[in-house]
Amino acid sequence: MSNRNEGNIFEYILEHVNIIDVISDYITVERSGKNAKALCPFHNEKTPSFIVSEEKQLFHCFGCGAAGNAISFITQYENLDSIDAVEFLADKYRIDISQFAKGAHQKNTSHYARYYDILRDAAIFYYKNLRLYPDALAYFEKRDIHIDVIKQFGLGFASDAWSDLLKAMANKYSKSDLEKVGLIIENKDKTNHYDRFRNRIMFPIINPKGKVIGFGGRVMDDALPKYLNSPETEVFNKSQTLYGLNLAKNHLQDKRQLIIAEGYMDVIALHTHGFTNAVATLGTALTTDHGRLMRRYADEIILCYDSDFAGQKATLRSLDVLQGIIEKIRIIVLGENMDPDDYLKKYGADKFKEKIDQAITATEYRLNHLMQAYNLNDDQEKIDFLSKAVVIIADLSNAFEKNLYIEKLSGLLDVSRELIAKEVFKENYNANTQYGFHAKSKKVESIPKITSDKKRYLEKQLVMYYIHKHDALTEDQKTLIQNFSYSDELQSIIDYVVSYYESHTEFSMQHIIENADLSISTRLIDIVQSHLSVLDEIDIELVMNNLQSISLDENIEYLMQQLQTSDQKQAIQQEIQKKRMEKQALQLQMRRNKFKN
Ligand code: GTP
Ligand code: MN
Repeated sequence: MSNRNEGNIFEYILEHVNIIDVISDYITVERSGKNAKALCPFHNEKTPSFIVSEEKQLFHCFGCGAAGNAISFITQYENLDSIDAVEFLADKYRIDISQFAKGAHQKNTSHYARYYDILRDAAIFYYKNLRLYPDALAYFEKRDIHIDVIKQFGLGFASDAWSDLLKAMANKYSKSDLEKVGLIIENKDKTNHYDRFRNRIMFPIINPKGKVIGFGGRVMDDALPKYLNSPETEVFNKSQTLYGLNLAKNHLQDKRQLIIAEGYMDVIALHTHGFTNAVATLGTALTTDHGRLMRRYADEIILCYDSDFAGQKATLRSLDVLQGIIEKIRIIVLGENMDPDDYLKKYGADKFKEKIDQAITATEYRLNHLMQAYNLNDDQEKIDFLSKAVVIIADLSNAFEKNLYIEKLSGLLDVSRELIAKEVFKENYNANTQYGFHAKSKKVESIPKITSDKKRYLEKQLVMYYIHKHDALTEDQKTLIQNFSYSDELQSIIDYVVSYYESHTEFSMQHIIENADLSISTRLIDIVQSHLSVLDEIDIELVMNNLQSISLDENIEYLMQQLQTSDQKQAIQQEIQKKRMEKQALQLQMRRNKFKN
């Protein structure tokens, strides 16, 4: 659906739905005249401040600031992008949007609706089978999967017959269609069809729009293969599908974090124990497509694979795949060859929560994994280990991170920091290279390439510090912090926190969550949680100086661009000169601070 006039399709949908209907499908709204009132679904509140205007076809929450039309309500509530939200509404209210579909060169998708119907009917068929086959129910019971969970995930059973499903569906759908969605298979001499899934408990795979797109089936004994999945079909692409995402996506409002497990059973166990942000790949390796899919829903990924050898390999592979796609990745190591399902059964949810809190970074994981292969009490092995470890650290794009791991290794191995840093930075190393950038740059003129990553990292540290060590800051520092120009997303956050401190003396996350704009509160939670562990290591002077230095570079770069087109060249030249001098003074100060410590 790309060759359509999107402006029109949005308007068309909005003309054909009533926002009151759309919203009251999710929450209880109380009508009062032309408006309706409700408890806001986007933040916690006890008295309703969520207003829906039928006349304007808009909603607005006076508590958290959430606002929009019927489509944006769906994007927020169902966590869909706006195109998907449009299709979601069209589908739900049976609005024909085929006029907006594109020309003949595009894939014809009109038969997908039929495929989805077939797959949904099959899921219902398998589910209803549970009543007829107590053994299947007993298997679920044995694995602590009770009826509410069976319903939530739509689990079912495919009987041990050759064509139960085929017979049940044949009067409604063609064999050809049933075959195309992967439910039946044609025999070798092409005389007959039989059911693909037989004598297996069934897991429907449901996409974020709520459509059944395929199945996984597990044997109830030790037969092989243990799992059988639907083949790839027109509506089922394994490398773009995450099991459980249809449920998990609705639980990411407070915290944009996804837990990635390996198996169906892991996802179910995690959800059952309250970790409703868990998903899994479908017995396939994690792909960059998965990575991009996750990024739509989450800012942080927690990998939680089996801790056996295969799981470790898969973890390392996934880290490589996700590098450059997902910025924040942490890994849970369960040990004892357990998967999340086993772990939860044995130790319970609280212990698993601790595991999440202790989850380690990708670099820590890589270093730990490498370390296993060496006996660090042996000097030669220690050297071998170090020479490989510095390669891992040198690969990091962020200089602060590099420094962090240099410190860690230095402490752990009792090897001087300088020595490790030299190996990490190689020819870029000089005695003044602290934290990875060059205080002793010869050409002050040359503007170092500003990496927005570094800036954002520093800004986050600053926000963290500002929140938690507010009392420790001098007035001058506070003024400076308030006056920096931040990257877009962080500007609104710092503005919020600054104004927060104008009326509060102590920081309360609870208060923020209840009162701040949804996007601000989620970002804040994110920053606060991800940087808490480094709070004591933050050298606020250094962070501020570096940010100031980056700001100056940005200023200079901007002025240089202005210079090309402006007719006030002289004034701009002077301004550039001024900024360069400020920068030099700053660098001098930074160097002095260095020697002071
Ligand atoms: P349980 O053994 O029932 O706890 O399941 P599990 O989810 O822990 O499975 P396991 O760790 O053995 O495998 C992880 C995932 O890999 C499964 O959920 C399946 O998606 C997939 N998988 C496992 N075995 C097979 C197999 O034999 N064939 C295929 N295609 N996929 C498999
Ligand atoms: Mn398992």
